Amino acid sequence: MITTKSEREIELMREAGRISNLALKTVGDNIRPGISTITLDKIAEKVIRDNGGIPSFKDYNGYPATICASINHVLVHGIPNKTVLKNGDIISIDVGASYKGYHGDNAWTFVVGEVPINVQKLLDVTRDSLFVGLQQAKPGNHLSDISHAIGEYVYEHGFTIPFDYTGHGIGIHLHEDPTIPNQGEAGHGPLLKEGMTLAIEPMVHAGKPFTKVLSDNWTVITKDRSLCAHYEHTVLITKDGYEILTKI
Ligand code: MF3
Ligand code: CO
Repeated sequence: MITTKSEREIELMREAGRISNLALKTVGDNIRPGISTITLDKIAEKVIRDNGGIPSFKDYNGYPATICASINHVLVHGIPNKTVLKNGDIISIDVGASYKGYHGDNAWTFVVGEVPINVQKLLDVTRDSLFVGLQQAKPGNHLSDISHAIGEYVYEHGFTIPFDYTGHGIGIHLHEDPTIPNQGEAGHGPLLKEGMTLAIEPMVHAGKPFTKVLSDNWTVITKDRSLCAHYEHTVLITKDGYEILTKI
């Protein structure tokens, strides 16, 4: 069942979104060669707790950290550890926070130092696909209109999209209905309604669309070890479009 949120719930989700985005941006400001992903995790956790929030991912299905830190060919769910970033890496940071029981969830791919222009293009296309998808986020459209717009944009630019990872509804749970694929035919699935809250999160591969989960049962990599990127915002469907909740 897809829920719509009351004005009171939306206020709490705005605050959860603000804290989630503050944590993401603060981590982004600290990304540089030589810093470890566990240090980035501690930075995010402090921001969230100092703002009265709770890390959404910690202990979710046993996940051990505040952020997912996914470097280069790691697509999602990289567990923070002592690995140190180096010039030329790309790193996707995914972070969620709850506030008074309501969740926010957002992700961004950052460059470490300098990267070649083809790598920057992967990041640009993935980020832009999120906003191209969001242009379809309005009452009366079908859910899959968002999926279709993301998919078309990504494939047009020569990249691919894994089938097995998707966006999701969000609210009192980190993951709620509906599941939101990043590709597919337009005009299917539920109609979007004012008050729905959705986490839209395109994940894009430079190579083939297949993934593999490592033996820690979390880390998802591209099977061909090609580079990949991930951007995510939590949004509210409004009267005539959408509002980004994960913003400071
Ligand atoms: N943003 C991711 C998602 O929506 C993060 C989940 S990581 C987990 O699925 F640890 F919480 F599972
Ligand atoms: Co998410």
